[in-house]
Amino acid sequence: MSLFPTYPRLPVTLTDAEGTIVRDDDNNEYLDFTSGIGVNNLGHRPVAVQRAIEEQMNRLWHVSNIFPVPAQKEAAEILTSHSSMDAVFFCNSGAEANEAAIKLARKHTGKNKVVTFGQSFHGRSFATMAATGQEKVRQGFGRMLEPFDYAVWNDQESVEKNIDETTAACMLEIVQGEGGVRPAEQSFLEFVQDICRSRGVLLIIDEIQTGAGRTGELFAYETMGLDPDIITSAKGLGSGFPVGAMLGKAFLKDDFSPGSHGSTFGGNPLSATAARATLEEILKEGFLNDVKEKGKYMKEQLTKMVADIDGVKEVRGLGLMIGVEWEYEVKPIIDELRTEGVLVLPAGPDVIRLLPPLTVTTAQIDAALRILDEVFHRKA
Ligand SMILES: Cc1ncc(COP(=O)(O)O)c(C=O)c1O
Repeated sequence: MSLFPTYPRLPVTLTDAEGTIVRDDDNNEYLDFTSGIGVNNLGHRPVAVQRAIEEQMNRLWHVSNIFPVPAQKEAAEILTSHSSMDAVFFCNSGAEANEAAIKLARKHTGKNKVVTFGQSFHGRSFATMAATGQEKVRQGFGRMLEPFDYAVWNDQESVEKNIDETTAACMLEIVQGEGGVRPAEQSFLEFVQDICRSRGVLLIIDEIQTGAGRTGELFAYETMGLDPDIITSAKGLGSGFPVGAMLGKAFLKDDFSPGSHGSTFGGNPLSATAARATLEEILKEGFLNDVKEKGKYMKEQLTKMVADIDGVKEVRGLGLMIGVEWEYEVKPIIDELRTEGVLVLPAGPDVIRLLPPLTVTTAQIDAALRILDEVFHRKA
């Protein structure tokens, strides 16, 4: 095969999709509780986003960022009026959004070090790979971009130890996604914010997996009552159209002056339109409340379901980002769930991660739960 084998591919080729349902090339149907790893938050091919992109396609696909892009301005206005941020830089992916955040923090503070956390995941580019607190992601690529220090998750003392006079920023996920669906404790987040404030360190929240409505607010930091300096978004922001964004407070604006940063495709008319249309859907009245309720329901049902399974350590998560931690490797369970018609993800070797579209119906949740119940008990 003429592709680099960067991805261990599953033995299923998906060809068609609508909402929460996907179909493979043998016409088998699955409930998609992966959402393309937290991307298809509005389900597959959401009508409103498809229409908006089609309309834009019939007018203009791409212009350079040397011209104003109206859809970019509209998407930025929605983002800033529904967050505590004041300015947006559009790019194409999560890694690029985090790159922009790291560059901005270093430029503004004139300092170099960024403190991140063990089990974090921030991307695969050189800076974001170095920021990622997982040795397996960095292995084999030689000397990392410096300096990044990895503090211990949910450990206040460790943050205090790692922040010093060379620290530009502290960067974290509200719920570590790839690292095992590990939510930060409220008191820990407040501590990190306070210490950042008092030491002149910028607080960057990586909302690439937790944002775009996934946890029941547009961004998860809102749920925790935080006031970060920079946040990053991607994945669900374009409903499957590649778009990323870095959002910052007004006092950072001048640090990204003309010529300081850029991206040819960043926020082009098509991707900015996808972001605008996606945000409009997420912010419709009742949508986020519904996500919270469905998330609560799913977590409660799962907790009840696994009560008699010794092999399950914990059910945890926020909104519709839920993890089930097992005592052993979950790959065989995930494979069997797929055979039975439910697609789920791993998050590390021993955690099953459930990321259904935010538009999933209660009937679809119940259908998936019935299959999970059967397979979990069979495999326990
Ligand atoms: C929290 C977090 N940050 C960054 C990234 C990187 O995003 P991308 O793959 O779009 O570069 C991911 C992707 O999984 C992520 O979950």
